[in-house]
Amino acid sequence: MKLTVDDIAFRYDDEPLFQGLSFAVADGEFVSILGPSGCGKSTVLNLLAGILPPECGEMRVDGQPIRGMNSHFAYMPQNDLLFPWQTILQNVCLHGRLHGREKAARERALELFPLFGLAGYENAWPGDLSGGMRQRAAFLRTALCDADILLLDEPFGALDVISRGDMQDWLASMKRHLGRTCLLVTHDIDEAIFLSDRILVLGGKPAVIRGEYRVTEANRTRDWLYGQAELRHRLHDSIRGLEATPC
Ligand SMILES: Nc1ncnc2c1ncn2[C@@H]1O[C@H](COP(=O)(O)OP(=O)(O)OP(=O)(O)O)[C@@H](O)[C@H]1O
Ligand SMILES: [Mg+2]
Repeated sequence: MKLTVDDIAFRYDDEPLFQGLSFAVADGEFVSILGPSGCGKSTVLNLLAGILPPECGEMRVDGQPIRGMNSHFAYMPQNDLLFPWQTILQNVCLHGRLHGREKAARERALELFPLFGLAGYENAWPGDLSGGMRQRAAFLRTALCDADILLLDEPFGALDVISRGDMQDWLASMKRHLGRTCLLVTHDIDEAIFLSDRILVLGGKPAVIRGEYRVTEANRTRDWLYGQAELRHRLHDSIRGLEATPC
């Protein structure tokens, strides 16, 4: 397994948010986490990224325990967090600049601008881009981090339904190119079905993985997605706590 989360406990206040939270993600796997608002999805990503420390339990990448901030994860938070006073190229090279590798980061970024649908916008300001383009720029910045696991927190949550669909198509087409392990937090059941190899449903107090669903279809189209009514139904029930048995 690429990533294992074993028996994690965590609390913000008196009441535990997690008590014995465990799951694993295989190398190159795309896993989505669904769950009701406030159940702890973003907190899981913050624990992995080392922004928050667990009370107990162990997290491992490639079998090695991870503690605190670490270079295994590239984290894309829900808000795109682009610096408005920097160009798109400067924004996406942030990681390289912080690590003294700006020249190499610029070269790699310029190669990737067309693939991210941003060709011609290298010297534009974030304020000049549409919401979808800003998200792709934030995604490019995340992809340029030398990390083997991407943590994506509702990356398309702020977009209108059409732009969101376009971004989902784009991400589906990028999956092979990225070739990395991805953990995506989303509220969008169809987005999870469309993009994931496996879907985890987080819920309860304290929260645990209360459902696990594999999606094996290789040829995913919008028509295929529209036909996934039964899986959509089961995921909906699981999020609401009505279906306890994973498939
Ligand atoms: N810094 C904090 N201090 C205290 N409580 C917090 C803090 N951050 C989050 N919480 C609480 O912890 C719980 C889990 O928060 P978290 O943001 O992980 O949920 P979430 O599943 O990502 O929710 P959403 O789907 O709305 O983004 C919520 O009840 C939230 O109010
Ligand atoms: Mg959240």
